[in-house]
Amino acid sequence: MKLAVVGGGSTYTPELIDGIARLREELPVSEIALIDPDAKRLELVAGISRRMLAHAGHPARVLATSSVAEGAEGARAVLFQLRVGGQAAREVDETLPLRCGCVGQETTGAGGLAKALRTVPVVLEIASAVRSVAPHAWIVDFTNPVGIVTRALLDAGHRAIGLCNVAIGFQRRFAAWLDVDPGRVALGHVGLNHLTWERSVCLDGEDVLPALLAAHGQEIADSLGLRPGLLRRLGAVPSYYLRYFYAHDAVVREQRSQPSRAAQVAAMEARLLELYADPAVVTKPELLSRRGGAFYSEAAVALVASLLGDRGDAQIVNVRNAGTLPFLPDEAVIEVPAAVGAGGAVPLPVPTVEPLFAGLIAHVSAYESLALEAALHGGADRVRDALLAHPLIGQDETAQELAELLLRANHAHLPWA
Ligand code: G6P
Ligand code: MN
Repeated sequence: MKLAVVGGGSTYTPELIDGIARLREELPVSEIALIDPDAKRLELVAGISRRMLAHAGHPARVLATSSVAEGAEGARAVLFQLRVGGQAAREVDETLPLRCGCVGQETTGAGGLAKALRTVPVVLEIASAVRSVAPHAWIVDFTNPVGIVTRALLDAGHRAIGLCNVAIGFQRRFAAWLDVDPGRVALGHVGLNHLTWERSVCLDGEDVLPALLAAHGQEIADSLGLRPGLLRRLGAVPSYYLRYFYAHDAVVREQRSQPSRAAQVAAMEARLLELYADPAVVTKPELLSRRGGAFYSEAAVALVASLLGDRGDAQIVNVRNAGTLPFLPDEAVIEVPAAVGAGGAVPLPVPTVEPLFAGLIAHVSAYESLALEAALHGGADRVRDALLAHPLIGQDETAQELAELLLRANHAHLPWA
């Protein structure tokens, strides 16, 4: 089975290769095409990928190419993990909103909008190129902002599913606390990509979330940077992205006094590329575990295995709402457990969502649809509308100023700006 990776020159790729090598029983891959426009990075990443597979005794061959058509030809699944503008553009996303007192984050708020504007047109162009050579291939999208990008792909008629590692991260963590195999832990995960809550944690069908909160509430709260009292009131575990909402002003203060995540990641990437160039390095470097993408390879392998093997098991993915959350339009993309088989991912029923969560979900979902309009059709007015609709921005003057700033800063990536 051939798998293609768009953005294959990403320093994250060895994470994926590690999963493919470990999980070969689950997903027998015979060829991996790494597609990337950056020839230098691609060569280094393909090099370590080949060494890792050989070291693991895995038979897959690695093709490195800058051509989407060549790489995707004959692929059964194509993973999208690209970053338009690299860490330099991310740095702007993370710092520019701070000037207006707003959080600087690459997927949340104004930074996420800038990323969507840069990314959606590029992803759609690549998806068309994929479709022309591999019309039946599944597109698995990790490219952020995943909710908006997945909606763009689905609206354009592609066979696409969005994926994030937040849910699998919680599942693994809870399973470790419970000392059970992660496969026995099913999360009541609900929301939009990077805006989710775990409302239940079922171990063999029984909800153990109240017990987990009682035993580990403090630890969970500390790791999220939130107060344990908030978790008790929510009766749910929010993803760490909710801190940008629940502790917005505190995050802004912190961000103003710290180097950006983009700067930290750029330094890690430079070091990772040195390691990838070293022929003695034949396994995933430890440094990679300091990136945010833990378990992403396992989530990807499981998703592709269920799509191609028609397994019908539940996985947490980004799919069309299609009535699952009655307070959202059917076309919206949500992140929930879904049954995954050869026909795609079908969301499982979700218990009624409390207003405390539903309000924010609806608000951000509306922002996402306006963000997609801006990304597809351009125009400063559409950008302003999206910012005005975002719960973390919302004021006219701020929206106006941020729209000007982010359009100017992203000029090189936006032909219409
Ligand atoms: C998590 C998120 C991803 C995001 C990543 C950032 O894995 O789910 O969507 O891209 O964190 O990690 P980084 O190491 O680049 O900050
Ligand atoms: Mn994610």
